[in-house]
Amino acid sequence: MSMKIKFSPTRNSLLLSVLCIAPHLWTLQTLAQEYIPVETAGNALVLQADQHQDLKMIYFGKRLTSGNEYGQIPAAYRQSDDPTGIFNSAYTPSGSRNLVEPAITVTHADGNNSLDLRYVSHQSTKISDDISLLTILLKDPVYDFEVTLYYKSYYKEDVIEQWSAIRHKEKGNVILHKFASANLYLKGESYWLRQYHGDWAKEMEPEEARLTHGIKTLDTKLGARADLFQPPVFMVSLDHPAGEDEGRVLYGAMEWSGNFRFDLELDPTDNLRIIAGMNNYASPYTLAPNEEFTTPPFLYTWSDKGKGAASRQLQQWARNYRILDGKGSRLTLLNNWESTYFDFNETKLAELLKDTKKLGVDLFLLDDGWFANKYPRNDDHAGLGDWQENKSKLPNGIASLVKEAQNDGVKFGIWIEPEMVNPKSELYEQHPDWVIKQPKREEYYFRNQLVLDLTNPKVQDFVYGIVDGLFTKNPDLAYIKWDCNAVIYNAYSAFLKDQSHFYVDYVRGLYKVLEKIRAKYPKVPMMLCSGGGGRVDYGALKYFTEFWPSDNTDPLERIFIQWENSYFYPAITSSNHVTDWGKQPLKFRTDVAMMGKLGFDIVVSKLSPQDLEFCQNAVKTYNTVKQLVWQGDQYRLSDPVTSSVASVLYLDSVKTSGVIFNYLVNARYSAGSKLPIRLKGLDPAKKYHLTEINLYPGTGSPIDAGKVYTGDFLMNIGFNPQVRGGRASVVLKLDAL
Ligand code: DGJ
Repeated sequence: MSMKIKFSPTRNSLLLSVLCIAPHLWTLQTLAQEYIPVETAGNALVLQADQHQDLKMIYFGKRLTSGNEYGQIPAAYRQSDDPTGIFNSAYTPSGSRNLVEPAITVTHADGNNSLDLRYVSHQSTKISDDISLLTILLKDPVYDFEVTLYYKSYYKEDVIEQWSAIRHKEKGNVILHKFASANLYLKGESYWLRQYHGDWAKEMEPEEARLTHGIKTLDTKLGARADLFQPPVFMVSLDHPAGEDEGRVLYGAMEWSGNFRFDLELDPTDNLRIIAGMNNYASPYTLAPNEEFTTPPFLYTWSDKGKGAASRQLQQWARNYRILDGKGSRLTLLNNWESTYFDFNETKLAELLKDTKKLGVDLFLLDDGWFANKYPRNDDHAGLGDWQENKSKLPNGIASLVKEAQNDGVKFGIWIEPEMVNPKSELYEQHPDWVIKQPKREEYYFRNQLVLDLTNPKVQDFVYGIVDGLFTKNPDLAYIKWDCNAVIYNAYSAFLKDQSHFYVDYVRGLYKVLEKIRAKYPKVPMMLCSGGGGRVDYGALKYFTEFWPSDNTDPLERIFIQWENSYFYPAITSSNHVTDWGKQPLKFRTDVAMMGKLGFDIVVSKLSPQDLEFCQNAVKTYNTVKQLVWQGDQYRLSDPVTSSVASVLYLDSVKTSGVIFNYLVNARYSAGSKLPIRLKGLDPAKKYHLTEINLYPGTGSPIDAGKVYTGDFLMNIGFNPQVRGGRASVVLKLDAL
């Protein structure tokens, strides 16, 4: 469907007097109002091109039964006036009649800073049964400058991706000072922002508060490992903080692995303006005539049934469309990071390969420390950048380890951190111009390292070459852990002519490398690691099968980190390793790690016979429930923040089979599951029984697997997993008869 509104060349505009300074210019005229709904199964986002050709967002929420009533929405509100009719602009320009936070700010070729954008036409294309793409063209009536807005909607998943493309044909370059991806407008009684902050080992800490008038900005300026302090996700609830199963809530996420920025502005008329995009901090971008500047998508979903439904929508979308191989399988593994750190050799690794087999997992993952010779990588002060096998640790190279793994019947994976360099490295000595640093200033290090300049195509080739070289030499290599441990200080590229393009072009350079890798190696599983969750975003997850949520693997901590991540990301993306962190028993640690992609990072040879038996059985048990965890619908049943028990259910789509993880998260004397935990998502008419699984050898279960309950009973009365001190971790398998 394509709509086009014609602009008359007459100069008799009744609405605005437009100064005609070039032949392409058109004059505004009174037009019929046009409603442009973006409808998904449950929701509708409604845009209106009004009689002034202003494009506005007049509604986002539950889809109305009768679409022709959307036009009546604005009249139902009796709020104070917006003098120039711009607060709800679908893409707010600046420098003309707008005085609130803009989505876009420019300096034209002639030095003028004003911009206005008016609706020209729109087009809706059906990409598949599920996906539609709406494009809307906006133009400035005075300058030859235009923006196309893109709304890609996923019907079944109730998800929209929105981005913009900016172009001009002015007689010289235009500077873009702000270039958002999306601009939303919400109306409610009050607005409650749930945001996240973090640091190393403290990822995804939530804060929820009522938004007050003015602007709340969430952003990052770290460049790389950009999400370390602030992940690119948030929620806004309307009227009151949404609960798990009630309340109106918007989830937003930026699909960008660098600096991002969300502005949430409660405007003078008490409505909420949301502007999301790349961060324009230190980034005025020069755009030549006829060039196109495309912004990364802002992703959002809406639910009027609370946070649970919103997260299932997003998880479904992610598995169906975004995460690499989201519907595929994953490899269980044994990692050697915490069992050896940098201290290993071929003999030790040979043992670990045997342990991998003994444990029953699929793959051995060799971590940091396998490379560099002149400045050997024996700690984190040297060697990054020199990706040749360290001859004293691995005289026979990676190839012999891959072969040995094959002989032992396991796969082999490897750690790299290809964007980084230690000053103590041959790479730094040979290519100081490849390193991000200010030429005349003192160097600042993060984990003793610097970041390579991915704006430079030669550096892009180098980084690509690290991965390609490993696979070319070792075609049976089965897994990559891609780490990224430093932020960018002293942002400066010896390659770029225009330094203010640096932050944007760095990420574009990274994506070019990842595109090239995926073109040649489309399916090899890769873990997105960034010293923990410093780079967890849907821009990067297009290229990765999973991410590393945190170096903090204390299971108690992990329950909270995984809980918060689960609002935005499906369990299949969460690499969870059993380690020696924390005081909980091995069973507790393993159960928590099973709520995602299971791995181990422990010294298998030091496990007691019973612990080893437990781990071996746990891997087998995991293999029987992993499809439910990876692909099932996730229901958060009991919140560890408000209850002494955390409980999460993963349920298959036909509601016949599920797995429930329950944990004691409070060590007080009387803490435990005194009340039954109500299940969700079941078929009320079906009959189910529950069996406790993943028991530690020699322990029994008080759960009677022979008892039968209706779905109705389990959802209204609930089930008691009997979590208490001494039974701090309980995994239940749910099956319909
Ligand atoms: C940080 C990662 O988060 C760890 O798992 C480990 O790979 C180290 N880097 C290695 O240096």
